[in-house]
Amino acid sequence: MEREIFTSIIRVEHLYKSFNGEPVLQDISFTLAPGENLIILGKSGAGKSVLLKCITGLLEPDSGKRVLFNQLLDELDEDSLNVLKKRIGFVFQGSALYDSMSLRENLMFHLNRSSIRFTARDKDARVEEILDKLGLLNAIDKMPAELSGGMRKRAGLARALVLRPEIILYDEPTTGLDPATSREISELILRIQRIYQTSSVIVTHDMSCARATSNRMLILEKGSFIAEGTYANLRDNPVKAVQDFFIN
Ligand SMILES: Nc1ncnc2c1ncn2[C@@H]1O[C@H](COP(=O)(O)OP(=O)(O)OP(=O)(O)O)[C@@H](O)[C@H]1O
Ligand SMILES: [Mg+2]
Repeated sequence: MEREIFTSIIRVEHLYKSFNGEPVLQDISFTLAPGENLIILGKSGAGKSVLLKCITGLLEPDSGKRVLFNQLLDELDEDSLNVLKKRIGFVFQGSALYDSMSLRENLMFHLNRSSIRFTARDKDARVEEILDKLGLLNAIDKMPAELSGGMRKRAGLARALVLRPEIILYDEPTTGLDPATSREISELILRIQRIYQTSSVIVTHDMSCARATSNRMLILEKGSFIAEGTYANLRDNPVKAVQDFFIN
C-alpha cells in the first residue's frame, strides 16, 4: 500500500486540559512533520504524559483541536477512531508488560487484542522480527521479572512496534537507565525512525537522549511551550528556563 502524503502527521491547536480546576496544559499548539523525531522536554510534572495521552485520545482535553493524519479527532466515530489508533504506537513510561506472561505471550496478547486479524504464522513472524530488530530474540520466553531495566524498555518498544505503527509516542524511553543503556535506547529510536520511517514524539528530560534523537525540540514548562528549535538552537538560547536543561 502506498503511503499517503501529509504536510503534518499531527497538528495540535490551542489545547487546554485541567484536572479538578487545576490547569495542566494551557494553549498547547504544535505540529509533527512526517518522518520527524520531535522531542518534548520538560521537568517532572510539566504535563508531558498528559499531553501524550491527550494526543491519542486516552485523555479528553477541555478544549482544542487534534488533527492526526488529516483527520479531526473529535469528528471521528468509534470505528474510525479505532482504525486511527492502530496507526499510533505508545511506549509507556513503564513497559506496560503483563508480569504473568512471557515476552512472546505479551506481544501475542497485544496482537490478538488488536482488531486486525493475523494468521498464526504472521503473528509468530512479527513477534520474532521485532524482537530480533531490538536484540531481544534470546529473551523471547523470559518473564518480565527476568529482564534487566534496559531490556524492559526495549520490550516496551517491541510491544508498541509489533503493530507497525506510523506514529510512535515515547514517554521517557531512557529514564532510570545507566548512561550506556540509555545511549543504546537512543540509538534504537533512531534505527526505528530509519527502518520503519515512523514519525515520533519523544517526551524526556534526558538531554543525551534529546541530543541523540531529536530533529526538533519543544520545551514544556508548567503546561505551556516556552521555546522551540533544534538542540543547537536551544543550547544557545539565553532564557534561563531553557538553559536550566543544559546545565547540570
Ligand atoms: N488523572 C489525573 N488526575 C489528576 N491530576 C493528574 C492526572 N494526571 C496527571 N495529573 C496532574 O497533571 C500534572 C502533570 O502530570 P504529568 O504526568 O503529565 O507530568 P509529567 O510531565 O509527565 O511528569 P514526569 O516527568 O514526572 O512523568 C501533575 O500535576 C499531575 O499531578
Ligand atoms: Mg510523565
